[in-house]
Amino acid sequence: MKIFVTGGAGYIGTHTCVELIQAGHEVIVADNLCNSKKEALDKVTEITGKGIGFYEIDVTDEKEVEKIFKENQIDGVIHFAGLKAVGESVAKPLMYYYNNLVSTMVLAEACIRHKVGRFVFSSSATVYGDNTVPFREDMNLLPTTNPYGETKAMSERILTDAASANEGFGVTLLRYFNPVGAHESGLIGENPNGIPNNLMPFVTQVAKGKREYLSVFGNDYDTVDGTGVRDYIHVVDLAKGHVKAIEKLKEGVNVYNLGTGKGTSVLELVQAFEEGNGIKVPYEICPRRPGDIASCYADASKALDELGWTAEKDIMDMVKDSWKFENGLTE
Ligand code: NAD
Ligand code: WQD
Repeated sequence: MKIFVTGGAGYIGTHTCVELIQAGHEVIVADNLCNSKKEALDKVTEITGKGIGFYEIDVTDEKEVEKIFKENQIDGVIHFAGLKAVGESVAKPLMYYYNNLVSTMVLAEACIRHKVGRFVFSSSATVYGDNTVPFREDMNLLPTTNPYGETKAMSERILTDAASANEGFGVTLLRYFNPVGAHESGLIGENPNGIPNNLMPFVTQVAKGKREYLSVFGNDYDTVDGTGVRDYIHVVDLAKGHVKAIEKLKEGVNVYNLGTGKGTSVLELVQAFEEGNGIKVPYEICPRRPGDIASCYADASKALDELGWTAEKDIMDMVKDSWKFENGLTE
């Protein structure tokens, strides 16, 4: 199939391009490079030996998107393009609502106009809010604590309504848990600008000596050791989940958790990183971070039953591949 990947130069997008190409699909990418570099796609070509059609455009721009649909016989869309920094979304809510919602609507409309029946959307476990773990796809969604999370819940709703109203337009909503790790080649991975918001990039930067210590946000949660528990998933496993999702996409609305089903606390992750890489990660216990929940992990059985997908990599693979990528960075 010819797959149009929006946000394909980003962290999850590049890994998914690799897996799509290796599964025999043709890929075209649109990205405005607001949080990525064109070089990341050159690395994808280095890994796969295959070129990628690239459009440097903003996918909220209806005219530019229309041009891409006219120039290409697209079989499916995977929509990664979006802004994702939780704190920034609180400071700049309109920017987040505009970018993340308009892009989703523009792309869905183009698909319907051009009779493209497969649409895969990057959602997030954040839409479950503070539900009881493990999170199941049929649970009622609870309010999230920030505009970023709301853009995911609203995009899910917009796409669900669009799929219900348009025969032949099928949507799969993928709720990611906590993506970490990097490609085994060490060529692609996550390299956030400025101070990382997420745990794993912070840990690798502390290990590298770029930051003095890790602040552990709270040790008084009702969890195994008091620190927050999350379902970390290797980005390559996540990428493979997208290949299954687009290949097996059924008409209507399909929802899947992409997680491992296993929770890991902050201190367990730090310990795994230290053991796996033989390097110390100094940390300090700090107050809780506003908006955080105690535990978040998936019931991952639906994706296995219906897509035949399950995560294969464990926490050791995740900490080792994250560290390998950090060490390969030049800046
Ligand atoms: P990323 O920032 O690395 O990738 C997103 C890409 O989209 C970037 O390359 C950026 O330049 C591009 N982009 C943003 N707005 C655009 C626009 N209007 N037009 C064109 N390109 C645009 O982020 P990621 O971690 O790869 O996340 C991909 C998707 O998955 C996002 O939608 C994100 O919200 C979602 N998601 C991510 C996580 C996570 O923890 N990484 C978890 C759940 C969901
Ligand atoms: C993980 C755990 C922190 C940093 C966020 C978004 C979510 C999704 C994934 C996009 C928590 C603790 C963290 C640090 C710490 N993104 N922590 N010190 O908050 O589960 O999810 O990213 O869709 O929507 O909310 O991930 O990596 O920030 O935090 O102690 O410096 O690590 O408190 O328990 P989170 P995270």
